[in-house]
Formats: sequence, C-alpha cells, structure tokens
Amino acid sequence: WETFLADIRAIETLKRERNAVILAHNYQTPEIFHCVADIRGDSLALAREAQETDADVIVMAGVHFMAETAKMLNPHGTVLIPDRKAGCSLADSITGADVRALRARHPGVPVVTYVNTSAEVKAESDICCTSGNAKRVVESLGTDSVIMIPDEFLARNIGAETGIRMITWPGHCEVHERFTPEEIGRMRADNPGLVVLAHPECPPEVVAASDFSGSTAMMADFVRGHASDPILLVTECSMSDNLAIQYPRTAFVRPCNMCPHMKRITLSNIRHALETMTHEVTLDPELASRGRRAVERMLAI
Ligand code: 13P
Ligand code: SF4
Repeated sequence: WETFLADIRAIETLKRERNAVILAHNYQTPEIFHCVADIRGDSLALAREAQETDADVIVMAGVHFMAETAKMLNPHGTVLIPDRKAGCSLADSITGADVRALRARHPGVPVVTYVNTSAEVKAESDICCTSGNAKRVVESLGTDSVIMIPDEFLARNIGAETGIRMITWPGHCEVHERFTPEEIGRMRADNPGLVVLAHPECPPEVVAASDFSGSTAMMADFVRGHASDPILLVTECSMSDNLAIQYPRTAFVRPCNMCPHMKRITLSNIRHALETMTHEVTLDPELASRGRRAVERMLAI
C-alpha cells in the first residue's frame, strides 16, 4: 500500500505540473481506474475524449492502438504509452497489405475496420468502428455486404444482428475467444437468476448463450440498471473488479480471463511515463491523416 500511495501522490503532482490527463480503459486495474484516471471508458469514449481534451499530455492507460488513435485525433498533443509492448492480438492479426489484398478480391465493397488495429490498417480503411457503434456504422453504409476486419467474431455477431453479409478476416481477441457456452451454462446452473453479459468479441455461440451483448461501456450501463441481480460479465476480469467497487451490493460471478497487454500498464510505469515523458507515440503524418479520415467518419455517426 505504501508504494501504491506514493505512486498515486506522485502521479497527481505530475499531472498538474505537465497539464496531463490519464485516459483509462475499463480493463485497467482498480488502482489505476479508480485512483488516478481522469477519463474512464470504452474505446469509443476514450477516442472522443482524446479529441476533445485541452490537456497538453495524454497518458493512455490502455493498449497501443488506443494511444495511436488518441494521437491521430489529437495530433498537436503529446500522447504517452507507459509500456510500448501493450499490444492486442486483433491489431497484430492484420497488415495494411492484407487490407489492400482484400479490397482487390472484393472490388467496391466498403472496408469497416475495428479500432483495434494499427494506424497503417486504419489508413487503408473506409471507416472505423468500435464495439459500441459497430451496428450503426455498418448500417450507415447502406450496402448488402461489407468487409469487416479484423475480428471475425465481431463481424459475425454484427452480421447476425443486421442481416448484412460479412466478408471476414480470421482475427480473434485472445481473451474473448476462450469463453464457451458450456462455461456459461455451468455458471447459470450454479447461480440461479444469473444475468449474463457478453462482449461482442466473443464467439457467436457465446453471445447466443448470453442475455445481452455490448461494448464495455454498454455493459457498465446495463449493470447500473440491474444492480440487484447476480451478474456474469463475459469479458476481461478487471471490468468486474471495477464495477464491484461501484456496486458493492451486486454479486459478480467472476471467471478470470485476463488481457496480458492491458496488464502491462501499472501505477509505477504511469508515474515513470510522466516523470520522463516516455514513451511518446508518433505517427507518419500521411498515414495519420488517412487513418484520421476513417476514425472521424466513424465519430461523425
Ligand atoms: P470496448 O471498446 O468495448 O471497450 O472494447 C475494447 C477491447 O479491447 C475489448 O477487448
Ligand atoms: Fe486486444 Fe482482446 Fe486485449 Fe482487448 S482484451 S486489448 S481485444 S487482446
């Protein structure tokens, strides 16, 4: 606790000195999420806040693609990521060359790219989406088919909701692909009245076995309205830890699938990032400007 408190105090001082804000994703551990974050939320909320903040420095307590998106939307600000290796299995699954090859194979079909991708991949895309707006983004295009990359499960889940034909890519989230309908069935049997919320990065059969599916922010909103029910969040485990602090009377059933990339961010490396102004995220200006178009098109919807 002594070390935690020393880090928290130092971070608060450094934030004031640097005119910095800490943006924390819902999967950050409670000591980051509740003790030092200024803005908390899902990928969509963090992107919007990165665009709107007038702070000089943004520290992204999240993964690398989130820091790149923040830099795209706030090109004159300094964006820091406390650990450069905080990646994402989805972002690592596809390259810009892969997107060009898909376009060549399906001429005229729009490319909808999940924000969990590199700046290079966003630069090759027509529009981005997050799990919070994927359905709206896809429907806004008015086409019968879309190329929806790189998350195969998100694309199939949105395809099932909209009836739009999805051309997919075999990218998966290493956290959400591990859940199974059998596991949900066992938890329902052990916990009568259990309400099951699944992230749309889960396989379609897991989403089908759940009561609700949505982004991390949509799950948090759902919990706010059902705080008296026992709840299973089929997602990364810090999400339940953070909500359990906000809703102490809700029983959270907690299988723990952890995102090793999100867990690279700690109080101590956030403090180090602000002390040393590292690691600064930089983007090739031409790539950033093409990627920004796809992200801004999404934010306009
Ligand atoms: P959200 O946009 O729902 O927060 O999801 C981001 C993510 O990385 C989920 O694995
Ligand atoms: Fe990527 Fe999955 Fe981790 Fe989210 S939980 S950052 S999608 S690996």
